[in-house]
Amino acid sequence: MANTILVGAQWGDEGKGKIIDFLTEKADLVVRSQGGNNAGHTVIVAGKKYVLHLIPSGILRPGKMCVIGNGVVIDAVSLAGEIEGLRKQGIRVTPKNLMISDCAHLTLPSHRALDRAKEVAKGKGKIGTTGRGIGPTYSEKAARTGLRTGELLNPARFAKRLHDRLTEANAQLKTMGAAPINIAAESKAYLAAAKVIAPFLANTVVFIHEMLDGKTDVLFEGAQGTFLDIDHGTYPYVTSSNTTAGGACTGSGVGPNRIDKVLGTIKAYTTRVGEGPFPTENEALGEFLHGLGREFGATTGRARRCGWFDAVCVRYAGIVNGIDELAVTNVDGLDTMETINVCVAYKLGKKRLDYPPTDIDALAQCEPIYQTFPGWKKDTTAAKKWSDLPPKCRTYLQAIAKLCRAKLSIVSVGPGREQTILL
Ligand code: GDP
Ligand code: IMO
Ligand code: MG
Repeated sequence: MANTILVGAQWGDEGKGKIIDFLTEKADLVVRSQGGNNAGHTVIVAGKKYVLHLIPSGILRPGKMCVIGNGVVIDAVSLAGEIEGLRKQGIRVTPKNLMISDCAHLTLPSHRALDRAKEVAKGKGKIGTTGRGIGPTYSEKAARTGLRTGELLNPARFAKRLHDRLTEANAQLKTMGAAPINIAAESKAYLAAAKVIAPFLANTVVFIHEMLDGKTDVLFEGAQGTFLDIDHGTYPYVTSSNTTAGGACTGSGVGPNRIDKVLGTIKAYTTRVGEGPFPTENEALGEFLHGLGREFGATTGRARRCGWFDAVCVRYAGIVNGIDELAVTNVDGLDTMETINVCVAYKLGKKRLDYPPTDIDALAQCEPIYQTFPGWKKDTTAAKKWSDLPPKCRTYLQAIAKLCRAKLSIVSVGPGREQTILL
């Protein structure tokens, strides 16, 4: 395998965790480089479900190394809980298979409280964040006032800094009319979690480069999706990191010349959680998928908004990320459909657009131009190879890849590891 960046090419939840788990068989190292515990990556192995938030999905494969890079924001309490949860599920997590950058910024209880208070203050104009403190953490990073994981190695100094941050936040929360943080309780929990995290800290940049020089194959596990990118997404209805391929380089300290391939992951339809424009949103499709027990958020449990596949967006994701190949997941979600729509272009006033407008008000006014495909009306979940898929399904998949100007390389027909077809 080659050094590969895997990105979400829609609004997140494309099935990145599942595809990473599949590809990890042939990789040596899996790196997370942005986002935080707003991510929820579901992997199902031998019928057992794992949901990863901060730890790379590669952790489920014995013998593989995982890194949480400098660009990730880490809530120590959440990460310590995730490590414990995985151990309870029988997964080994030690400094021998997980390394955490000592330069990653810390998400503190203050960030979580401020994230929630800001959303309440925004009222109807809220972003619909996961409430995990992501925006305030990256804001402090950019303001150069944040605390980094390396600080955890000096517990006494860290305790003082944490206390100061929580005290400052309480003053701010008071002006917002929000409940204060219980400083004693939150500090105690955070300092306990810090002890769990400390042994995993290292200079991950040097480690990754040693691995690369040793001809290791590295997989970069993107979180969120292209249209949640702070620069290229549907701003301000986005997250606060660069979710696109470039973010994998800055968030891990690896130069672009070390990357061989960018793999875009997409669902065979579209979903979005939280607020913001979504041109192909379709309530009936949402009701249908929710009725099957599908499309509920892995992090917050919220019902995801659903819509038809949007080739305009994914085409744009193709150029922003430099997508070479596509992995299409949740193909089986469309198995019983009579007909399936694909948005091939937008109509905005009298104009036909091949790429989404950057202004969100204009995007909200775009009308999808659909091409309708006949459904295949056959169960695909047992398909093991391309030729097992119904011809109409193959036509649909090849058509969406062509519309997005990328090569189709992986098809996923179920949540399980084995329900994956490599073309
Ligand atoms: P991620 O955040 O991109 O890793 O995606 P999530 O885990 O949040 O959401 C994807 C959901 O789709 C999860 O429940 C997966 O188990 C599930 N999934 C992934 N691929 C497939 C597939 O091909 N078919 C079905 N039925 N479920 C899938
Ligand atoms: P994975 O990695 C889907 C969305 C939130 C909200 C916006 C901002 O599982 O694909 P934030 O908490 O980041 O400030 O929220 O981004 N969001 C996601 N949606 N999948 C995710 O991650 C997401 N992470 C954040 O719903 O709209
Ligand atoms: Mg998810």
